[in-house]
Amino acid sequence: SLGMPSVGGSVLLADPRGYCAGVDRAVITVEKALDLYGSPVYVRKEIVHNKHVVNNLRDRGAIFVEELDEVPEGATVVFSAHGVSPMVHAEAAERSLKTIDATCPLVTKVHHEARRFASEGYSILLIGHEGHEEVEGTAGEAPDHITLVQTPDDVDALEFPEGTRLSWLSQTTLSVDETMETVRRLRQKFPQLEDPPSDDICYATQNRQVAVKEIAKNADLVIVVGSANSSNSVRLVEVALEAGAKASYRIDDISEIDETWLDGVENVGVTSGASVPDDLVQEVLAYLAERGHPGAEAVRTADESLIFALPPELRKDMKKAG
Ligand code: F3S
Repeated sequence: SLGMPSVGGSVLLADPRGYCAGVDRAVITVEKALDLYGSPVYVRKEIVHNKHVVNNLRDRGAIFVEELDEVPEGATVVFSAHGVSPMVHAEAAERSLKTIDATCPLVTKVHHEARRFASEGYSILLIGHEGHEEVEGTAGEAPDHITLVQTPDDVDALEFPEGTRLSWLSQTTLSVDETMETVRRLRQKFPQLEDPPSDDICYATQNRQVAVKEIAKNADLVIVVGSANSSNSVRLVEVALEAGAKASYRIDDISEIDETWLDGVENVGVTSGASVPDDLVQEVLAYLAERGHPGAEAVRTADESLIFALPPELRKDMKKAG
């Protein structure tokens, strides 16, 4: 590289990082379905938003489709971790598909909240990103009751008739700080706003943001491993920059690292999104070690031990198969 050489220094490795309980469960669901029913097993949408995970499962016989009309009548289809709207379940039933629902239980919880608020007559402000599969699924639970709010500034344009009962929900993988700002502005404008019974931004998203903040304080560069369509991974770059990292980049794998990023850099922070296998992170550490940044030091901000049971429809078939 032409710039200043890397000066060498420590690597701060965020912990927690990588797989959350919902991703782990969704990936194992597809693997077990392939073992149990044989190939092909259809998967609606990317099972989790990570290129390497999807390619790996495709090699093992999974067929990824965008919509159910691409799945042959009677075949087996897995729904992704991001969840689906009731219309998708109805379509699957109509076409006699065998379904296995790998929706993360923490997303399902938000669906329940949407249904409950809607049945009680609330208008629901759903904080999230337009077009994201999770938002489509959650909004589909109560389409007539839900208004999407994408940024704090979106709040200004919202209007509701006097006396409207209002509540808010959110996508599970947002920036905690930005979401709190959106809620603050919603409450300022609509004092009657009611909170959901519990946080929608999930434990894994929160924990990864706390950890990246901690490493960003002392890092010149923060490398985030994760795919471009992974909401929680993209948030980690934003949070790292807000927390003081001089630079932060998202990469799918080491092939996307530009060596000049290391010019003049002493401490490098490394983390990964909730859908990222850790071997991709280990490759980053090896890459850095070869370039004067050996010996990663884990910076631990939380312990995670949550595990979700596999979808019951799959467990039943596994039991039958012995
Ligand atoms: Fe679930 Fe959160 Fe992971 S909603 S899939 S635990 S990022």
